[in-house]
Amino acid sequence: MRRIVVIGIGAGDPAHLTQQAIAALRASDVLFELRRTAADLTALRREICDEHGIGGRVVSIAEPQRDRGADDYAGAVQTWRDRRADAWEEAIGSALGDGGVGAFLVWGDPSLYDSTIAVLDEIAARGRVTFEVDVIPGVSSLHALTAAHRISLNRIGGAVQITTGRRLAEQGLPAGVGDVVVMLDGQCAFTTIDEAGVEIFWGAYLGTTGEILIAGPLAEVAPEIARVRAHARQLRGWIMDTYLLRRAAE
Ligand SMILES: C[S@@+](CC[C@H](N)C(=O)[O-])C[C@H]1O[C@@H](n2cnc3c(N)ncnc32)[C@H](O)[C@@H]1O
Repeated sequence: MRRIVVIGIGAGDPAHLTQQAIAALRASDVLFELRRTAADLTALRREICDEHGIGGRVVSIAEPQRDRGADDYAGAVQTWRDRRADAWEEAIGSALGDGGVGAFLVWGDPSLYDSTIAVLDEIAARGRVTFEVDVIPGVSSLHALTAAHRISLNRIGGAVQITTGRRLAEQGLPAGVGDVVVMLDGQCAFTTIDEAGVEIFWGAYLGTTGEILIAGPLAEVAPEIARVRAHARQLRGWIMDTYLLRRAAE
């Protein structure tokens, strides 16, 4: 039986790689590399592998483009996943023989806003290429964010919600939750929140040498974050940012 290991590699700092992740990488016969992410991210992944002396055989998989303008968001994501499954199935079937071990490197932690596990499940369900899957946890960007700001994710006994910029813009701050982590926000959805007493803890390029942190009352710092974000994005050509919105204690 083939084995696929989904390895969380942390949010950008090569030191985020756990002993478990390094051991799993070294034990892999093939590293599957997805050709879709920004050039900087591919370079960072390579740097992480080099720093830990992990070479191995690399099989590059060309990733299909997602239709980002589609009205049917869920339908477009499903179509994209199906096409990815086709490409991965072909790559796994031809690169790995019986008993072979292949690795997929996942940014942050594989359980958080990442479809690697779901795509592998879809391929396994088809039954044409068979394999077992193991998942190695990683330092997520949300934990890199809370550590960088030296804060806890929750207040005592409080609920936390993790959501996307799209949902925040559409639905506002969810009721009954003190702390809301927002990811995948390309549109600065925090600027649409009009509630008094909210604090923001924002971070971009967390764990990398270009890390940027801003925190303070949302109403005061939102314009600064939007400005800094736009400038950084223009300079580097890409940005990854995450933030925590904290309601005033009741
Ligand atoms: C597709 S999700 C992947 C999340 C990842 N699995 C994790 O555990 O962090 C991509 C989103 O994660 C966040 N993100 C990932 N890495 C980041 C970093 N180094 N700094 C800031 N945000 C990051 C951003 O919100 C970005 O839009």
